Amino acid sequence: MRHVVAAAIGCLAIAAAGVAAAQPPAGAAACTGCHPASARVTSPVPRLAGLDRTAIVRAMQEFRAGQRTATVMDRIAKGFTDDEVQAIAAWFAAQK
Ligand code: HEC
Repeated sequence: MRHVVAAAIGCLAIAAAGVAAAQPPAGAAACTGCHPASARVTSPVPRLAGLDRTAIVRAMQEFRAGQRTATVMDRIAKGFTDDEVQAIAAWFAAQK
């Protein structure tokens, strides 16, 4: 009986992890208003979906430090912690 319960808990954990990966992390909704969440959407704003995770993180750090030319991203990047940027970058990188 104990094994059955343990197996059930294991399945729940896997299911929860799957849902969590599909959901955008906190803060990502603030990006998708301008940066489309799908590579299929055409937009004048540079595409983040499918970009390399480290490239997104580096760009955010450079915007925040004023080392990269920006119209709006310098101000936006200041509103996010490193942890939030990491999570958002990982999520965009995983989008098709
Ligand atoms: C108000 C619209 C707007 C929002 C909201 C926005 N961006 Fe941007 N983003 C831009 C624009 C416009 C650029 C081009 C640089 C500039 O002019 O600031 C850009 C550029 C970038 C780039 C560089 C892309 C490249 O290939 O050069 C990254 C990375 C980026 N944004 C990440 C984000 C993230 C992450 C968020 C959410 C936290 C976000 N942006 C929210 C408009 C926006």
